[in-house]
Amino acid sequence: MELSVIQTLEWTDSGVRFIDQTKLPTEERYVTCKTCEQVADVIRNMVVRGAPAIGVAAAMGIALGVSNSRAETVGELKQDFDQCCELVRKTRPTAVNLFWAIRRMQDKFESLRIRPLPKIRQALIEEAQRMHAEDIAANQAMGRLGATLMPASGGVLTHCNAGALATCGYGTALGVIRAAVEQGKKIHVYADETRPFLQGSRLTAWELMKDGIPTTVISDNMAGAMMKAGKIGAIVVGADRIAANGDVANKIGTYTVAVLAKEHNVPFYVAAPFSTIDLETADGSKIPIEQRSPTEVTHIAGRQMTPEGVQIENPAFDVTPAKYVTAIVTERGIARAPYGESLARLAGQSATVHST
Ligand code: MRU
Repeated sequence: MELSVIQTLEWTDSGVRFIDQTKLPTEERYVTCKTCEQVADVIRNMVVRGAPAIGVAAAMGIALGVSNSRAETVGELKQDFDQCCELVRKTRPTAVNLFWAIRRMQDKFESLRIRPLPKIRQALIEEAQRMHAEDIAANQAMGRLGATLMPASGGVLTHCNAGALATCGYGTALGVIRAAVEQGKKIHVYADETRPFLQGSRLTAWELMKDGIPTTVISDNMAGAMMKAGKIGAIVVGADRIAANGDVANKIGTYTVAVLAKEHNVPFYVAAPFSTIDLETADGSKIPIEQRSPTEVTHIAGRQMTPEGVQIENPAFDVTPAKYVTAIVTERGIARAPYGESLARLAGQSATVHST
C-alpha cells in the first residue's frame, strides 16, 4: 500500500507551516506561523489539534520565540523563552503532550545555559525538529505492535481523529490501522463523526480516503447499533492523557463507545505514545477537562441548531475508566491491566519494543 504523506506541521525557513485543519475536508490550505504568539493562536483555534501534534507545535512555537528574540544575554533570552512557554502552556489544558513538550524544551535550555546565544537558539530548533521525527518513529513502532491486535478482516471503529493529522505523521490509532492494512489485513474502518467538532467525519475520513483504506462514516449515535449488528471486530482510539492507573482522557464520546464495547464484547484498544502517559496524575478524576465554546454545539457550519438562550455544555474530553480498556499500545510495548504496574514497568525501560 502506498501511503500518502500528510505534512501536519513542519519547520521551514519561513516559519512553522501547518495544514489548516479547520478547512478540511473541502479545502487543503496551509498557514505559516512566524511567531510564538501565532503558534499559540493556531493551537487554540484548532488549526492544529491532536495531543502529539499540539506538543510538537508548542515546541516549535517556543523555538520560533527564541529565534526571533533580540536578547543579547542568556538571562534576557531565558526571559523571552519563559514568556513563550507561558503563552503556549495556556492554550489547551487536557493534552499532556503540551506540558511534556514544554518541559523537554526547558530541560534543553537548562543544559545549554553556558553556550553562546546562536548555539542555544539553534539547539532549541533542533530539539523541536527531533521531537517531530521521534513522534513519527513512535507511531510506526506503535503501529507494528498494535496491528497484531487487529482482526484479520472486518470492521474496526475509531472515534475522533488520532491519525496523521493529530500527530507529526502516520498516527496513533490510525497508525495501528495503517500498519494492519500494510500487513495485509482487510480492515474496514467505521469512523464516528465525533460531534461537535466533527474530527471523525472531516479528518479521519479525509486521511483514510487519501490512503485508499475503506471507510464508512457513522454519526456517533449509530456506534451501538453497529456493534450489535456484529459489524465491529475491534475499536482503537487515541488519548490526550493517560493517568498512572490507566484511566484514559480522550475526545468526548470515547467513554460511551468504551461502555458499549464492553456490553458487546468488542475489544477496546487505546494507542498513544509515552508522551501521553502522565504518571504524575494518579487517576482520571484529576485530569483537567477543557470546556470549549458553546457555539461548537449550537451551530453547525455557521447555522444555528438550538433555540436562542438554551443552556449548553461542551466538555471537549471525557475519561474512560481503565476497566473498559482491553490494552494500551505504546511505542515501548503493549500494556494490559493492572495498568498501574504495566505502565510503570514500561516507563522504567527505554524505547525498546516488547510486550508486558
Ligand atoms: O480536540 P482535539 O481534536 O485536539 O482532540 C483530539 C483527540 O481527542 C485525539 O483522539 C487525541 O488527541 C489523540 S491524537 C493521536
